[in-house]
Amino acid sequence: MKIHIVNGPNLNILGKREPEIYGKSTFKDYFTELQFQFKELELSYFQSNIEGELISELQEADDNVDGIILNAAAYTHTSIAIGDTVKAIGTPVIEVHISNTHAREEFRKQSYISPNAFGVILGFGLRSYELAIMSFTN
Ligand code: DQA
Repeated sequence: MKIHIVNGPNLNILGKREPEIYGKSTFKDYFTELQFQFKELELSYFQSNIEGELISELQEADDNVDGIILNAAAYTHTSIAIGDTVKAIGTPVIEVHISNTHAREEFRKQSYISPNAFGVILGFGLRSYELAIMSFTN
């Protein structure tokens, strides 16, 4: 089973970015742990700070993988375009967030991804990604 993780803006600086919210681990280190934990799966990941690149990545991944885990980061709350892409593609997309966005600022309660996501997992720290993978496999 192939699962592709797509991370949006500022998730490339995890580890040093507001560690009290997002933790001290880099995504690269966490991804290595995921590969170890889910050896039977083909995991891949992509990160971009650019909205259009995220859209192209989702379009390209469609039909080439069995599931997509998307943390669109701040674009979650602003991007109708990424929401449209999630709606347009056939591959199931699980929306994840490291933090509990509903317990934060008002603007983080809005998601353009959720209405078209297969499921949403948030607030479990980096474990949110692990739980999303498990939901594809069980
Ligand atoms: C985030 C939550 C977003 O509101 C924020 O803009 C991010 C990270 C999370 O994973 O908790 O960049 O998606």
